Amino acid sequence: MLSADSVKVAVRVRPFNQMEKDAGSRCIISMVSNSITVCDPRNRNNTKTFLFDLSYWSHSGFIKNKEGTLIPDGSTSKYADQRRVFDDLGQEILNNAWKGYNATLLAYGQTGSGKSYTMIGYGPNRGIIPMTCDELFKTIHQNQEPNKQYQIYFSMLEIYNEKVVDLLAKSKQSGGLKVRESPQRGFYVEDQMLVPCESYEQVQQLLKEGNTKRITGSTNINTISSRSHMIITIRFKQVFLKDHLTKQSDINLVDLAGSERQKFSGSEGDRLREGTAINLSLTTLGNVISALAEIAMRKKVLHVPYRNSTLTKLLQSALGGNSKTRMIATVSPADICYEETLSTLRYAERTKNIQNKVVINENPTERLILGLRAENAKLRSAITKIRNAGLRGEEETKELRHSLAENERQMAEIQTSWEQRLERSQKEWEQKYKTLKQEQHMIQKFPYLVNVNVDPQLSGFVKLFIQDGETIVGQSTSFSQAIVIKGFGVADKHAIITNLDNKVTLEPCGQAKVALNGVLLFAKVQLKHLDRLILGSNSTYLYVGFPCERNGEDLSKYDYDFFQSELAAVEGFDRDALGKQKVDPSVLAVFLDYIRVKPLVVEANQISKELNKDLKFELEVKNLALTDSRGHDLVKEVIVKVTNKMTHQVWVWSKAKFVNRKFIMEDIYQHFIDGETVSLDRESDPFWDPTEAVHLGTAYVWLQSLNYCIPLEEHVEFRSSQGEEEAVLQINLVPCTPSGQPLSEDEILIDPTEMVGQRLDFQVQIMQCLGIKWLKQNSKRGIQIQYNVFNHPYPFCTKPTWNTVNARIVQVTQFTVKSVSQELLNYLQSHALVLDLWGLQEGCTEISSSLDDIEVTDEGSIIIDCARQQVLNNVEMDDDQPSELHIKLSKLEQEIELLRDVNRILRTDNVSMKSALRKMMSDAPRPDEKSFHQRNTQAFGSKCTPKASYEVDFAKALKTFYQSMNRVQNQLRGLRRQRPPDENNVETLRMYIDNQTRIIRDFGDSLELCMNTLKNDVNLIVKKKKVVHTLWGSVTK
Ligand SMILES: Nc1ncnc2c1ncn2[C@@H]1O[C@H](COP(=O)(O)OP(=O)(O)OP(=O)(O)O)[C@@H](O)[C@H]1O
Ligand SMILES: [Mg+2]
Repeated sequence: MLSADSVKVAVRVRPFNQMEKDAGSRCIISMVSNSITVCDPRNRNNTKTFLFDLSYWSHSGFIKNKEGTLIPDGSTSKYADQRRVFDDLGQEILNNAWKGYNATLLAYGQTGSGKSYTMIGYGPNRGIIPMTCDELFKTIHQNQEPNKQYQIYFSMLEIYNEKVVDLLAKSKQSGGLKVRESPQRGFYVEDQMLVPCESYEQVQQLLKEGNTKRITGSTNINTISSRSHMIITIRFKQVFLKDHLTKQSDINLVDLAGSERQKFSGSEGDRLREGTAINLSLTTLGNVISALAEIAMRKKVLHVPYRNSTLTKLLQSALGGNSKTRMIATVSPADICYEETLSTLRYAERTKNIQNKVVINENPTERLILGLRAENAKLRSAITKIRNAGLRGEEETKELRHSLAENERQMAEIQTSWEQRLERSQKEWEQKYKTLKQEQHMIQKFPYLVNVNVDPQLSGFVKLFIQDGETIVGQSTSFSQAIVIKGFGVADKHAIITNLDNKVTLEPCGQAKVALNGVLLFAKVQLKHLDRLILGSNSTYLYVGFPCERNGEDLSKYDYDFFQSELAAVEGFDRDALGKQKVDPSVLAVFLDYIRVKPLVVEANQISKELNKDLKFELEVKNLALTDSRGHDLVKEVIVKVTNKMTHQVWVWSKAKFVNRKFIMEDIYQHFIDGETVSLDRESDPFWDPTEAVHLGTAYVWLQSLNYCIPLEEHVEFRSSQGEEEAVLQINLVPCTPSGQPLSEDEILIDPTEMVGQRLDFQVQIMQCLGIKWLKQNSKRGIQIQYNVFNHPYPFCTKPTWNTVNARIVQVTQFTVKSVSQELLNYLQSHALVLDLWGLQEGCTEISSSLDDIEVTDEGSIIIDCARQQVLNNVEMDDDQPSELHIKLSKLEQEIELLRDVNRILRTDNVSMKSALRKMMSDAPRPDEKSFHQRNTQAFGSKCTPKASYEVDFAKALKTFYQSMNRVQNQLRGLRRQRPPDENNVETLRMYIDNQTRIIRDFGDSLELCMNTLKNDVNLIVKKKKVVHTLWGSVTK
């Protein structure tokens, strides 16, 4: 009889991992009973609370006992260990299985959140699957009855890229197994291995076998496992021999792929968005869950998309069908995982609503055979009908024949006795057991290499023993003593390992790539216990020395991230270098991105090489500060630079686009190694993209001179996101009249506030771009410069210039602010005009400015204004931790303020002097006026204009000051972008410090020169003023 059963959901939070601990990550999750609260690390007041059926706090309050098992550290600890989780979830599954119900447990969560830990476990911390099997066998042994037979079958499938791989199959199935549908069984996997088991040890061995197969998956691409789903099925049958009755329970235990994969699927902005889904199964699972949740809430749903993916087909009965289903959502406690944690909990929350209809699977064996016979009769008559209808329907007939054969196979299987099948599997098991014993013996005798996988769950399964004498390491099996590694980018004869006189040495062969502890090897070296080896692109192994060298170390410390961090450090990118005092979560995130994407980039290069694609992929860290008009060091992200080695065309891909493309590349590569011809049209080729303009670098021109109506003539550098000089730009910022005439020096303002409410016109004159590296590399290229003015919505750009390293541009654009606000003045004071240099290449679309909606004055000048909000936002973005240089700069600004005060006083004096002069001249026009003028001229050696001459001098001083300040500010930006190299390398560090010292000295010198010049100029002006006073005194006396 059918009964309703709603899906129950549990949540588990794991401890911090080493990387999170090192980075001082904060825990953002709290649990009270079954309610879970997540708080936003950027705004602690922003919290979200969820309620689930079960919750497990496995984050803190535990210790490791001497067996290595994590257990609560006291009676008050709320730590949920593996046993607790099993007692709830595993035990319930078993209870239901004994009753004859199907059961499903799904583990859902982001990569590294603890799905496999919960389902399978690590070492002594066994997870639900082994514990459930162990418990099942124990209970069976305690419940032996004469007329009852227990049968247990074990199967292990992997779904990767929609293909089903049987992890227990002996032979390789290219293209994967077929998923078929029958009215009796629903969707099922054809030819799936169901291995009869009699003991827990057998299950353990099968798990090991299955996992080993996952590692050596046919493409040898190491990074696949966390993108695949694993379904373990335990079929438990209780056969009541007397009554010819069978009670059957299918227990599906599903370790899903990392949930964050979904967001790369159909990466935004990628041309190949439509055809791809990195994990179609995971996305469809989400859609099925949503549809079922809506149905449970009595909403109208037209269609539940089970058929859209392999996973949902196989889980159809678990979702809305005949299965008692549970989900465990695993989350990381760390602040950097906030977004993922939130999305996992939302997903889990939706799942709670699903209602299943369960029934006890109790069937007379005869009825099963009768059902299959009836189905076969129908299939036969369908085939006859098609045949009678003529030649059409070849495909359908083939399909029907398949189903017919499968049903017959099943009938034969039902009729084969359990004893016969068990006997067969027992023989195999004995053979495996022998190998297992042999391996243990070898461990005690020889040093060996042990595999380290990106998925820690799969590390340690492969042990390659280094026997005495010389061993050839590589793909080839033809050497008499060989270690065969079918790795990506591994040559037939890749390296030679020699085990002689209790020493092991390793020597790469020819050009073969071997990295030892992150450093490329070119000569023979002696291996030390716990050395890290990467062969080819990604075959990662830890060297375990002779038994006498071993100290019972915890090998799990040397995980995949450890290997990749070591490589990254050698490349000058280490986590410490990113932020020493306090590791910002975003800095840690970019570091993690770097070490996780890096192996994918290495693989992409290898695929490109093997498919003759001529593309080179390089991982870079892009500094987004380049778009901040205040030059602030804000966020970073990893990008992949793609270069066509033949045409030298360049593209820049976002991480999401790269991951998406890499997925398609793997798929194509799979076909290639399966021996299929790979021909792609451009539209579906992941290696092809239309040529596009490439962002080369950014230059900053500080705007403060506009505040004083001082023209600025500058040479500024375009710097790439790596801080390298890409070109030098000659640019002028010229305050002008509405008709475009440059303002004379007389118009220079001493006090910018005078401008408030006035009109301001200025020109951006882009003169030339010199020494363009992009063109030095290839003269068939071009450039364009693009910039934004304040918060004007459209960027402006120069016309393209092609084929010249020194491009003469001369493009003048005039802008008008109709009424200057105080906010605008503040903006000008602290911001720069940010100019982006774009590289054009043959066939790419040039950049154009959309000038349609632009408002212009009668004179044709572009009207701009500075919206209050934008300025306010930028003001709020001030650094919360001013650096030393910042303090210097703010001191400098204070000094400027002081000078401004001096100037204000001078101005007031000047105004009163002017009016006194005017009064004197009108009161008593005297013939010696000319002589006064002459005297003046003699005294100052300059021409006296209607404005007092020292005011002009002051303006000139300011002009010089702001021009040199522009340089100083750019130097400061450069300094703030500097990052120290790998600390372990003393030589590099020394060079870095020397260079840094020089730059700081130069910066200090420039700053001092700037200040001194201004002080001297002001002193001169003050002196001049005193002379005027004296003269004035003598004139008025
Ligand atoms: N509850 C826990 N207690 C202790 N360690 C844990 C726990 N959960 C996870 N870990 C550790 O975190 C690491 C990652 O866990 P796990 O392999 O289970 O992640 P996953 O969710 O299966 O990731 P993937 O999607 O990549 O397969 C492992 O080293 C594991 O030992
Ligand atoms: Mg896992």
